[in-house]
Amino acid sequence: MNLETNANLPPAGVQTDFPVPPGVYAETAVSVRHYTEKLFMFRMTRPPAFRFRSGEFVMIGLPNAEKPVFRAYSIACPNWDEELEFYSIKVPDGPLTQHLQNLQPGDTVLMRRKSTGTLVNDALLSGRRLFLFSTGTGIAPFASLVRDPETYEKFESVIMTHTCREVAELGYGIDLTRQTYDDPLVGEEARECLTHYPTVTREPFRVTGRITHLLESGKIFRDLGIETLDPEKDRCMICGSMDMLHDTKDILLQRGFKEGSNREPADFVIERAFADNDEGNT
Ligand SMILES: Cc1cc2nc3c(=O)[nH]c(=O)nc-3n(C[C@H](O)[C@H](O)[C@H](O)COP(=O)(O)OP(=O)(O)OC[C@H]3O[C@@H](n4cnc5c(N)ncnc54)[C@H](O)[C@@H]3O)c2cc1C
Ligand SMILES: NC(=O)c1ccc[n+]([C@@H]2O[C@H](COP(=O)([O-])OP(=O)(O)OC[C@H]3O[C@@H](n4cnc5c(N)ncnc54)[C@H](OP(=O)(O)O)[C@@H]3O)[C@@H](O)[C@H]2O)c1
Repeated sequence: MNLETNANLPPAGVQTDFPVPPGVYAETAVSVRHYTEKLFMFRMTRPPAFRFRSGEFVMIGLPNAEKPVFRAYSIACPNWDEELEFYSIKVPDGPLTQHLQNLQPGDTVLMRRKSTGTLVNDALLSGRRLFLFSTGTGIAPFASLVRDPETYEKFESVIMTHTCREVAELGYGIDLTRQTYDDPLVGEEARECLTHYPTVTREPFRVTGRITHLLESGKIFRDLGIETLDPEKDRCMICGSMDMLHDTKDILLQRGFKEGSNREPADFVIERAFADNDEGNT
């Protein structure tokens, strides 16, 4: 009997046309919700032995080839959730998402066993306010952190910004905030401490403009009636495209913030929300 092959058999009830690669969990999609033509979220079963820190990412794939394509995905639920949640782009010819966007409840999703990432509470020194700056699907790791009680133990106030091109692309963040305020575990603290600040760049909306412009002009602080950024008491996380990371990071560096990591916690941490066109992340 080949024990190694047996060890990789999917759990009972999970259907795959190909063997599950070694070191990979085969899980079942539980629910799928489409927000726009380009964006959807799904929830799937959680392997009982799988542990992660809120804000980390894992590698996700589909059982549609002998050697399936895996892509990095931020886990969008907190570490106490019984299921796993993901928020995804749909790239028309994308090797993974051209298929993943057709996911239905009951389908199998592959997930590598190890999670990692820098957008974790441990990588920041303590502070009073936590700013979470996101664009597009970059809100996913913050959907995990704003539902983790540890975030409210560490910070008095949490400001989550989300900038998208179009109003419809804000839907997931709006639902997330509403659900977080209603959540039995963190709702009370979130209603007191969590502020959602959505902005749009290519359509009219109540707040328009890139987060970089809103920080530099001071509009975000006037809108929210709060003090401007201060490295003595503020901590920040940034998640977006390479250009957004670069420009937002520059603003923080100019204001005296120091970049942190898992090894050396400091004032802010960054993680890209996707790889640029000429890089892959298989
Ligand atoms: C650390 C990390 C975490 C990530 N977390 C997520 C996540 O939570 N949700 C998610 O949808 N994607 C996430 N991504 C991107 C993801 O890994 C894939 O790139 C994405 O699923 C598309 O896969 P694909 O094979 O279809 O196309 P790819 O070949 O991977 O991408 C094709 C092109 O599409 C564009 N693109 C890819 N992903 C995005 C995106 N998310 N938003 C806007 N444009 C994009 C880029 O221009 C890219 O070059 C993450 C990437 C990294 C590096
Ligand atoms: N989402 C779409 O409708 C769409 C359409 C066609 C192609 N695409 C492609 O899909 C990829 C991702 O699109 P996306 O909309 O998810 O992400 P994106 O292009 O990174 O834009 C998301 C948000 O980030 C803002 N932004 C971009 N660069 C920034 C910077 N340097 N500093 C601060 N904010 C910045 C954008 O503002 P601006 O609007 O001012 O750029 C937008 O509001 C891109 O490669 C894009 O070419 C997307």
